Amino acid sequence: MAIKFRPEIKDLVPYKPGKPIADVKREYGLDEVTKLASNENPLGYSPKVKEAILSVVDELHLYPDGNITLLREAIAKKFNAKASQVLPSSGSDEMVDITSKTFLNPGDEVILADVTFPRYLSTAIMMGATPVVVPLKNFFYDLETMKSKITDKTKLIWLCNPNNPTGTMHTEEAIYDFLDSVPKDVVVVYDEAYREFVTREDYLQDSTVLLDKYPNVIIMRTFSKAYGLAALRVGYTMASEEIINNLNKVRGPFNVNTIAQVAAIAALEDQDFIKKSYEVNLEGKEYLYKQFEEMGIEYAPSETNHIFFNGKIECQELFTELQKRGMIIRPMYGTYSRVSIGTMPQNELFIKLYKELLNK
Ligand SMILES: Cc1ncc(COP(=O)(O)O)c(C=O)c1O
Repeated sequence: MAIKFRPEIKDLVPYKPGKPIADVKREYGLDEVTKLASNENPLGYSPKVKEAILSVVDELHLYPDGNITLLREAIAKKFNAKASQVLPSSGSDEMVDITSKTFLNPGDEVILADVTFPRYLSTAIMMGATPVVVPLKNFFYDLETMKSKITDKTKLIWLCNPNNPTGTMHTEEAIYDFLDSVPKDVVVVYDEAYREFVTREDYLQDSTVLLDKYPNVIIMRTFSKAYGLAALRVGYTMASEEIINNLNKVRGPFNVNTIAQVAAIAALEDQDFIKKSYEVNLEGKEYLYKQFEEMGIEYAPSETNHIFFNGKIECQELFTELQKRGMIIRPMYGTYSRVSIGTMPQNELFIKLYKELLNK
């Protein structure tokens, strides 16, 4: 008798993360490997975080605060929301999962883009919902077509702004225009994982204003990118109390560990570190743009800490050849790849190795 798995997961493939440095060192016998594959913060994280972590190392035998009270309050205070409108999670990854579990039934339609963050699609499939996938238009979300796909079966819409992996952004005006056309019983998740890197002034700077105007909007953010806490797995969501209360029913108990809770509070307090991260990212982005232009490499305009580019070489080949030389980037599809913006020495090394390859 065969074990019966849920049919919904039959064709799913596990999430493929950026390749770890240790794996590449081992595989190619290298001492030095640089990873520009997972949009991590090349500056690390705020020194205040280390102090906060040390303050709880003697408490590891105790369960974390299951209500995540202090972190909720710190986030609410910083972003002018109520603590009851905030829900931290184990990375925003977990909240993508919780959201799909909270809202989706078989037969429900979920509108999302292609290409965008892959867990929107896999969690919809897992719940037996029907994904309605709208291709990007010139590397940007095609908001007009997404609007036109709304039916009375639509339950959830995923909006990643700026988008991963293309880095492209929609303006405040475009976001309002889109939200105005969505029926109020359709939930829109506004994923702002990269908000701290946005340079354009026409970006929706303070998305918490959406909470009053659109009770169907869920804002998702993370401490993994600009705040540099990817290893600790902590993100947060803001939405109406009604939505938060329902997401809260679905999340697991103690989903944000004690170290992550104190680290995130300390990280939030150090906005100088965020400013520095923004500046280093901007300098790196301008350098990479210039180099790409000189090399004749086509790229999408990025408002994030990564650049999506047409590498001229098939992406798996570019990935493998760079790896052999100690550089990990992220292959996407065809000749498209994504590189995370690093420190200037890392960016320069990437360009040097890439040029060597192109000239080979
Ligand atoms: C758009 C987007 N959303 C969510 C996530 C998940 O981030 P985390 O689970 O580390 O908070 C990522 C990570 O790459 C992302 O790019």
